Amino acid sequence: MTVLSVAQGNDIATTDFLRALPKAELHLHLEGSLEPELMFKLAARNQIQLPYASIDEVKKAYDFTNLQSFLDIYYQCADVLRTEQDFYDLTWAYLEHCHAEGVVHIEPFFDPQTHTDRGIDMGVVVRGISSALHDGQQKLGISSGLILCFLRHLSEDAAFATLEMAKPYLSHFVGVGLDSSEVGHPPEKFARVFAAARELGLKAVAHAGEEGPVAYIESALDVLQVQRIDHGVRCTDSDAMMDRLARENMPLTVCPLSNTRLKVYQHMSEHPILQLLDRGLCVTVNADDPAFFGGYLLANYQALVEALGMTREQAARLAANSIQASFASDAAKASMMKKLQQVIAA
Ligand code: HPA
Ligand code: ZN
Repeated sequence: MTVLSVAQGNDIATTDFLRALPKAELHLHLEGSLEPELMFKLAARNQIQLPYASIDEVKKAYDFTNLQSFLDIYYQCADVLRTEQDFYDLTWAYLEHCHAEGVVHIEPFFDPQTHTDRGIDMGVVVRGISSALHDGQQKLGISSGLILCFLRHLSEDAAFATLEMAKPYLSHFVGVGLDSSEVGHPPEKFARVFAAARELGLKAVAHAGEEGPVAYIESALDVLQVQRIDHGVRCTDSDAMMDRLARENMPLTVCPLSNTRLKVYQHMSEHPILQLLDRGLCVTVNADDPAFFGGYLLANYQALVEALGMTREQAARLAANSIQASFASDAAKASMMKKLQQVIAA
């Protein structure tokens, strides 16, 4: 485990310090970074009639009661994404936010089925996203690894068909993930498709324990053999699971603003992320769907300062966890950790 010594570690973290910390973002749905402004621009470009009259009206609709109430709108908004340029513009806009906030490495998700089921070619989606990620590395110095997510409310057969469609583009991905409506769609539904993906050399992650029970975290680990759990906050229901996650140093990609906007917690002051951190779990901070939940990565770190009094030392540990939990090479991690040490020593 990395030991961080942070000058004035007990001081509350300032925004400048949070921005300066080199951070990785490991739980970000590209379709969830579609800002209403870009949605209107793409709707006009593609001659699509939106069900909203104005940006204000869109923002009013983003009043969610749970995960499903969000997903219904999220899938509807993605309809404006049609061309390779649209996927490029979406991804580039996210990269610009990263650049402004000190995010140096990203492993974003995309949901191919949301697009291929509308008749958009897998190649259009992948080429658009990938060329923006390539430019992000070249022009902004942000490294990345793309993760293809299967929609768990759809069938195992549909996931297999998606994996098949993705095979010509395998070099564009680092791994597969599992998202969408959690309750009623346990990880084991996708045991065979995850085994096939692992066989292809892909890493595996899965959303588990966002709204679903601890048993889903357990089957994501034991059946899907994931290397990270996305969300995972419901582990607080089980001391045994929290102990296991700490012992196995299993990363959780936690999304504070998402959790409060989707009413997993009524208020940020109830969020357990810092308790999990101080219990020795490898928790990380992430934005999930920033255009829908009111903030990018930095806003998520800031929310923890405002509601939970997060210190510099805690913030530095969260940033270090994000680097260590990434799929970057050991050399790349060492270089990011060195920069992190320089920031916290300054
Ligand atoms: N959970 C499940 N599926 C999702 C999410 C989420 O938070 N965001 C986008 N798809
Ligand atoms: Zn998510």
